[in-house]
Amino acid sequence: MAKKAIGIDIGGTGIKGAIVDVKNGTLVSERVRYETPEGGHPQDIAIVVAKLVRDLKPSRATLPVGVCFPAVVQHGRTMSAANVSKEWIGLDADGLFETTLQRHVHVLNDADAAGVAEMKFGAGKKRKGLVIMTTLGTGIGTALFMNGDLVPNAELGHLEIDGVDYETKAAYSAKERENLSFEEWAKRLQKYYSTLERLFSPDLIIVGGGISKQWEEFLPKLDLRAEIVPALKRNNAGILGAAALAWKNSDNE
Ligand code: BGC
Repeated sequence: MAKKAIGIDIGGTGIKGAIVDVKNGTLVSERVRYETPEGGHPQDIAIVVAKLVRDLKPSRATLPVGVCFPAVVQHGRTMSAANVSKEWIGLDADGLFETTLQRHVHVLNDADAAGVAEMKFGAGKKRKGLVIMTTLGTGIGTALFMNGDLVPNAELGHLEIDGVDYETKAAYSAKERENLSFEEWAKRLQKYYSTLERLFSPDLIIVGGGISKQWEEFLPKLDLRAEIVPALKRNNAGILGAAALAWKNSDNE
Protein backbone atom coordinates (compact mmCIF):
# COMPACT_ATOMS: atom_id res chain seq x y z
CA MET A 1 0.00 0.00 0.00
CA ALA A 2 1.27 3.49 -0.87
CA LYS A 3 2.39 5.53 2.10
CA LYS A 4 0.14 8.58 1.95
CA ALA A 5 -0.42 11.64 4.12
CA ILE A 6 -1.98 15.07 3.70
CA GLY A 7 0.34 18.09 3.69
CA ILE A 8 -0.93 21.62 4.34
CA ASP A 9 1.22 24.76 4.09
CA ILE A 10 -0.16 27.86 5.82
CA GLY A 11 1.41 31.16 4.77
CA GLY A 12 0.65 34.84 5.18
CA THR A 13 -1.13 35.03 1.81
CA GLY A 14 -2.18 31.49 0.90
CA ILE A 15 -3.07 28.08 2.35
CA LYS A 16 -2.09 25.18 0.07
CA GLY A 17 -2.53 21.46 0.44
CA ALA A 18 -2.41 18.10 -1.30
CA ILE A 19 -2.26 14.37 -0.65
CA VAL A 20 1.35 13.19 -0.82
CA ASP A 21 3.02 9.87 -1.48
CA VAL A 22 5.60 10.18 1.28
CA LYS A 23 7.79 7.40 -0.07
CA ASN A 24 8.75 9.14 -3.31
CA GLY A 25 7.74 12.73 -2.51
CA THR A 26 5.08 13.26 -5.15
CA LEU A 27 1.63 14.81 -5.02
CA VAL A 28 -1.06 12.20 -5.63
CA SER A 29 -4.01 14.60 -5.66
CA GLU A 30 -4.59 18.01 -7.17
CA ARG A 31 -3.05 20.88 -5.23
CA VAL A 32 -5.74 23.04 -3.60
CA ARG A 33 -5.12 26.66 -2.61
CA TYR A 34 -7.20 29.21 -0.71
CA GLU A 35 -6.41 32.77 0.34
CA THR A 36 -5.35 33.12 3.97
CA PRO A 37 -8.29 34.81 5.74
CA GLU A 38 -7.76 38.48 6.60
CA GLY A 39 -6.07 38.88 10.01
CA GLY A 40 -4.91 35.23 10.07
CA HIS A 41 -6.97 34.38 13.18
CA PRO A 42 -6.64 30.74 14.34
CA GLN A 43 -10.35 29.81 14.10
CA ASP A 44 -10.71 31.33 10.61
CA ILE A 45 -7.61 29.50 9.38
CA ALA A 46 -8.82 26.21 10.88
CA ILE A 47 -12.11 26.55 8.95
CA VAL A 48 -10.23 27.05 5.65
CA VAL A 49 -7.95 24.08 6.41
CA ALA A 50 -11.02 21.89 7.06
CA LYS A 51 -12.56 22.97 3.74
CA LEU A 52 -9.29 22.24 1.95
CA VAL A 53 -9.05 18.73 3.45
CA ARG A 54 -12.67 18.03 2.39
CA ASP A 55 -11.81 19.17 -1.16
CA LEU A 56 -8.97 16.64 -1.30
CA LYS A 57 -11.47 13.81 -0.70
CA PRO A 58 -9.02 11.58 1.15
CA SER A 59 -9.90 7.91 0.73
CA ARG A 60 -9.15 7.04 4.34
CA ALA A 61 -10.35 8.88 7.45
CA THR A 62 -7.08 7.87 9.07
CA LEU A 63 -4.66 9.59 6.68
CA PRO A 64 -2.34 11.64 8.90
CA VAL A 65 -2.27 15.40 8.36
CA GLY A 66 0.85 17.58 8.58
CA VAL A 67 0.36 21.33 8.85
CA CYS A 68 3.27 23.74 8.54
CA PHE A 69 3.07 27.27 9.83
CA PRO A 70 5.40 30.31 10.04
CA ALA A 71 6.13 30.08 13.77
CA VAL A 72 8.18 28.23 16.35
CA VAL A 73 6.21 25.04 17.08
CA GLN A 74 7.00 23.15 20.27
CA HIS A 75 5.08 20.04 21.28
CA GLY A 76 2.17 21.05 19.05
CA ARG A 77 1.97 24.62 20.35
CA THR A 78 2.75 27.66 18.21
CA MET A 79 5.11 29.77 20.32
CA SER A 80 5.77 32.83 18.15
CA ALA A 81 4.01 34.88 15.49
CA ALA A 82 6.45 36.96 13.44
CA ASN A 83 4.27 37.68 10.41
CA VAL A 84 0.90 36.30 11.57
CA SER A 85 -1.79 37.07 14.19
CA LYS A 86 -0.42 37.27 17.76
CA GLU A 87 -3.30 34.99 18.85
CA TRP A 88 -1.15 32.04 17.76
CA ILE A 89 1.39 32.61 20.54
CA GLY A 90 1.04 29.79 23.09
CA LEU A 91 -1.89 28.21 21.21
CA ASP A 92 -2.41 24.42 21.19
CA ALA A 93 -2.33 24.27 17.36
CA ASP A 94 -2.31 20.43 17.21
CA GLY A 95 -5.47 20.45 19.36
CA LEU A 96 -7.17 23.19 17.30
CA PHE A 97 -6.68 21.32 14.02
CA GLU A 98 -7.45 17.89 15.50
CA THR A 99 -10.77 19.17 16.85
CA THR A 100 -11.70 20.82 13.55
CA LEU A 101 -10.52 17.99 11.28
CA GLN A 102 -11.26 15.00 13.52
CA ARG A 103 -7.94 13.48 12.44
CA HIS A 104 -4.46 13.03 13.80
CA VAL A 105 -2.58 16.29 13.03
CA HIS A 106 1.10 17.20 13.35
CA VAL A 107 1.92 20.94 13.27
CA LEU A 108 5.47 22.12 12.55
CA ASN A 109 7.45 25.17 11.47
CA ASP A 110 7.21 25.98 7.75
CA ALA A 111 10.96 26.18 7.09
CA ASP A 112 11.50 22.90 8.97
CA ALA A 113 8.91 21.29 6.66
CA ALA A 114 10.51 22.75 3.52
CA GLY A 115 13.91 21.57 4.75
CA VAL A 116 12.66 18.03 5.40
CA ALA A 117 11.32 17.94 1.82
CA GLU A 118 14.67 19.06 0.40
CA MET A 119 16.64 16.59 2.53
CA LYS A 120 14.39 13.66 1.62
CA PHE A 121 13.51 14.42 -1.98
CA GLY A 122 15.46 17.46 -3.21
CA ALA A 123 18.72 19.43 -3.11
CA GLY A 124 19.85 17.99 0.25
CA LYS A 125 19.28 14.31 -0.55
CA LYS A 126 22.03 12.09 0.93
CA ARG A 127 23.99 15.16 2.11
CA LYS A 128 25.96 14.73 5.34
CA GLY A 129 27.41 17.32 7.70
CA LEU A 130 25.59 20.54 8.51
CA VAL A 131 23.00 21.64 5.96
CA ILE A 132 21.14 24.93 6.44
CA MET A 133 17.86 25.35 4.59
CA THR A 134 16.72 28.95 4.10
CA THR A 135 13.47 30.22 2.61
CA LEU A 136 13.26 33.74 1.23
CA GLY A 137 9.66 34.97 1.39
CA THR A 138 7.70 37.33 3.65
CA GLY A 139 10.29 36.46 6.29
CA ILE A 140 13.43 34.32 6.22
CA GLY A 141 12.81 30.77 7.40
CA THR A 142 15.69 28.51 8.40
CA ALA A 143 16.12 24.82 9.22
CA LEU A 144 19.24 23.01 10.45
CA PHE A 145 20.12 19.40 9.57
CA MET A 146 23.04 17.49 11.02
CA ASN A 147 23.75 14.34 9.02
CA GLY A 148 20.16 14.47 7.80
CA ASP A 149 18.59 14.94 11.24
CA LEU A 150 16.48 18.03 11.83
CA VAL A 151 17.29 20.32 14.76
CA PRO A 152 13.87 22.04 14.88
CA ASN A 153 12.90 25.68 15.26
CA ALA A 154 16.11 27.45 14.28
CA GLU A 155 14.95 31.07 13.94
CA LEU A 156 18.03 32.34 12.13
CA GLY A 157 16.05 34.67 9.88
CA HIS A 158 15.98 36.97 12.88
CA LEU A 159 19.77 37.25 13.21
CA GLU A 160 20.56 40.79 14.27
CA ILE A 161 22.95 42.42 11.81
CA ASP A 162 23.75 46.16 11.76
CA GLY A 163 21.42 46.48 14.74
CA VAL A 164 18.30 45.21 12.95
CA ASP A 165 16.36 41.97 12.68
CA TYR A 166 17.86 41.11 9.31
CA GLU A 167 14.85 39.36 7.78
CA THR A 168 13.38 42.88 7.50
CA LYS A 169 16.29 43.70 5.13
CA ALA A 170 17.03 40.49 3.25
CA ALA A 171 13.72 38.60 2.90
CA TYR A 172 12.16 38.64 -0.55
CA SER A 173 9.44 40.95 0.85
CA ALA A 174 12.15 43.60 1.51
CA LYS A 175 13.25 43.43 -2.15
CA GLU A 176 9.64 43.99 -3.19
CA ARG A 177 8.85 46.66 -0.61
CA GLU A 178 11.97 48.71 -1.36
CA ASN A 179 11.99 48.00 -5.08
CA LEU A 180 15.54 46.62 -4.93
CA SER A 181 17.30 45.38 -8.04
CA PHE A 182 18.78 41.87 -7.88
CA GLU A 183 22.25 43.52 -7.48
CA GLU A 184 21.12 45.57 -4.47
CA TRP A 185 19.30 42.65 -2.90
CA ALA A 186 22.29 40.32 -3.46
CA LYS A 187 24.49 42.69 -1.38
CA ARG A 188 22.13 42.20 1.54
CA LEU A 189 21.98 38.45 0.95
CA GLN A 190 25.80 38.41 0.93
CA LYS A 191 25.82 40.05 4.35
CA TYR A 192 23.18 37.65 5.66
CA TYR A 193 24.72 34.44 4.35
CA SER A 194 28.30 35.44 5.34
CA THR A 195 27.07 36.00 8.88
CA LEU A 196 25.35 32.59 8.87
CA GLU A 197 28.55 31.06 7.53
CA ARG A 198 30.75 32.77 10.12
CA LEU A 199 28.54 31.52 12.96
CA PHE A 200 27.76 27.96 11.78
CA SER A 201 30.28 26.83 9.10
CA PRO A 202 27.68 24.86 7.13
CA ASP A 203 28.67 22.32 4.46
CA LEU A 204 25.70 23.21 2.29
CA ILE A 205 23.17 26.06 2.16
CA ILE A 206 19.88 25.53 0.30
CA VAL A 207 17.87 28.55 -0.85
CA GLY A 208 14.11 28.10 -1.19
CA GLY A 209 10.98 30.25 -1.39
CA GLY A 210 9.14 31.20 -4.58
CA ILE A 211 11.92 33.54 -5.75
CA SER A 212 14.43 30.66 -5.79
CA LYS A 213 13.16 29.75 -9.26
CA GLN A 214 15.01 32.91 -10.36
CA TRP A 215 18.17 31.81 -8.54
CA GLU A 216 20.38 32.60 -11.54
CA GLU A 217 19.69 36.30 -10.95
CA PHE A 218 21.22 36.34 -7.48
CA LEU A 219 22.95 33.15 -6.29
CA PRO A 220 25.97 33.53 -8.67
CA LYS A 221 26.55 37.00 -7.18
CA LEU A 222 27.24 35.53 -3.72
CA ASP A 223 30.75 34.75 -2.58
CA LEU A 224 30.77 32.10 0.18
CA ARG A 225 32.96 29.20 1.28
CA ALA A 226 30.01 26.87 1.59
CA GLU A 227 28.25 25.43 -1.42
CA ILE A 228 24.97 27.30 -1.94
CA VAL A 229 22.26 25.82 -4.17
CA PRO A 230 18.63 26.50 -5.08
CA ALA A 231 15.88 24.32 -3.61
CA LEU A 232 14.38 21.78 -5.99
CA LYS A 233 10.90 21.43 -4.50
CA ARG A 234 10.10 25.15 -4.27
CA ASN A 235 6.35 25.72 -4.05
CA ASN A 236 5.52 22.22 -2.87
CA ALA A 237 8.30 21.86 -0.31
CA GLY A 238 6.13 22.80 2.69
CA ILE A 239 3.36 20.41 1.64
CA LEU A 240 5.78 17.52 1.03
CA GLY A 241 7.75 18.00 4.27
CA ALA A 242 4.64 18.47 6.43
CA ALA A 243 3.14 15.26 5.01
CA ALA A 244 6.39 13.32 5.45
CA LEU A 245 6.72 14.31 9.10
CA ALA A 246 3.03 13.68 9.82
CA TRP A 247 3.49 10.16 8.43
CA LYS A 248 6.59 9.62 10.53
CA ASN A 249 4.78 10.78 13.69
CA SER A 250 1.66 8.68 13.08
CA ASP A 251 1.07 5.04 13.99
CA ASN A 252 1.50 4.06 10.36
CA GLU A 253 5.24 3.54 10.54
C1 BGC B 1 9.35 33.19 11.37
C2 BGC B 1 9.73 31.74 11.16
C3 BGC B 1 9.31 31.29 9.77
C4 BGC B 1 9.83 32.24 8.72
C5 BGC B 1 9.36 31.87 7.32
C6 BGC B 1 9.91 34.03 10.25
O1 BGC B 1 9.52 35.37 10.41
O2 BGC B 1 9.86 33.67 12.60
O3 BGC B 1 9.14 30.92 12.15
O4 BGC B 1 9.80 29.99 9.54
O5 BGC B 1 9.43 33.57 8.99
O6 BGC B 1 7.99 31.91 7.21
